[in-house]
Amino acid sequence: MDKIKLGLVGCGGMGMRHLHGLRELSRTPFSNVELAAVCDIDRESAEHGAADAEELLGIRPEVFTSLEEMASGVSDLAAVDVVIDPSFHQKVVCQALDMGLHVMVEKPMAVTMKACHSMIEAAARNDRKLSVAENYRRDPSARLVHHLLEKGAIGSPYMATFHALSPGDEIFITPWRHLKDRGGLLLDLGVHFTDLIRYQLGDVAEVYGDARLVEPVRRKPASMSSPYRYYQDRFKKLAEEVPATAEDTSVAMLRMESGVVVSWIVGSSGHGSCGGNRILGDRGVIEGFGTRGGTTAVKEAGQEEVGFGDLVAASDDFELEPLAAHLFPDRMAAGDSAVDWKLLALEYFELAEAALGGRDLEVDGVEGMKDVAVVNAILESSRAGRAVTMSEVESGEVYEYQAEIDAALGN
Ligand SMILES: NC(=O)c1ccc[n+]([C@@H]2O[C@H](COP(=O)([O-])OP(=O)(O)OC[C@H]3O[C@@H](n4cnc5c(N)ncnc54)[C@H](O)[C@@H]3O)[C@@H](O)[C@H]2O)c1
Repeated sequence: MDKIKLGLVGCGGMGMRHLHGLRELSRTPFSNVELAAVCDIDRESAEHGAADAEELLGIRPEVFTSLEEMASGVSDLAAVDVVIDPSFHQKVVCQALDMGLHVMVEKPMAVTMKACHSMIEAAARNDRKLSVAENYRRDPSARLVHHLLEKGAIGSPYMATFHALSPGDEIFITPWRHLKDRGGLLLDLGVHFTDLIRYQLGDVAEVYGDARLVEPVRRKPASMSSPYRYYQDRFKKLAEEVPATAEDTSVAMLRMESGVVVSWIVGSSGHGSCGGNRILGDRGVIEGFGTRGGTTAVKEAGQEEVGFGDLVAASDDFELEPLAAHLFPDRMAAGDSAVDWKLLALEYFELAEAALGGRDLEVDGVEGMKDVAVVNAILESSRAGRAVTMSEVESGEVYEYQAEIDAALGN
């Protein structure tokens, strides 16, 4: 199979996980990506990345501390995988696209609409592919929910809940996830959810939201269990307390273009929890939107609830794309300890196919921008004290909250 040469930009926590994704892909007959180089502005992280890559892939990639050096130092480099803090996505992604490279960038695509639009323009200007790595929708559970909705398993959906509020004031993975200018917790977490909501229910029309900062100080968790050496090492160096400037708690009503209304409660703060994701239709209910390693269940009117395994078994017409079918032969990922990596393998494969043969991307720049826009609509609505339309937010007509971020970042 033809392969593209790829460089990994960003060897932090998620960058390390991307290396596992490359290994998963390399073990399949669909292997179409060759990791040629890794790059991180922090040399120690870049060296760790190269060492892990050698262990996982059997070949040590070249090591760089800047994108410019990497692009000029590696011949025939076709694409980069940008896995750095979201506030730097715009600069690095636009630079890579202007160098003629295809790009996959981690979610959230960027922090503000202005940054997202400049990335979309750079991809168009250079006729390069720009893929946003939205992984949750690629899980078989999300694919099954999508399939069931398309089949009309619950009739016409009219309402949904997306409630994911957990208590506490612990640092959420990294201190930057608590800083408004760096892509706060609601964006970092929430964009996974807005992508799932849009994937299952279509585009959002209007948002009325309230967002608050409940925990202005975040504290180091008492312990951390992670199979990744990188996360363990970083945990040891984590400060006992860090300041938080980004909102950590949100309540919103999303009115979808289809007329479906979604009740949203997302965050991590305070003392109570609130959970439960379901899609209600006029003939039944689907539990959940699907998620990484997730399950779903369906209750049709007047019937007993049918669980995930039985749903899959009964759905002969539920098919995964060929690589996904290879990675998940049972059409399920729940309980699969490699699910995170396998979803990444699917993202890499799609990028390489797009670069080699022009395949359309599932989550391109416009889709990635729309996912960010819904989270920013909640933040802008909260600031404006009124409901905002998605066209006002996507066009930048409503922009007070994000203007402060652009000013702080010098965008
Ligand atoms: N899809 C998922 O499930 C998932 C999970 C975790 C993180 N992420 C996303 O991955 C991205 C990275 O998050 P993380 O947790 O790995 O962050 P991190 O802080 O652990 O790592 C970021 C790395 O990028 C490096 N970096 C920053 N600017 C750079 C530049 N200009 N050039 C090269 N390297 C640079 C930093 O030195 C650091 O090593 C974020 O967008 C985050 O939202 C996605």
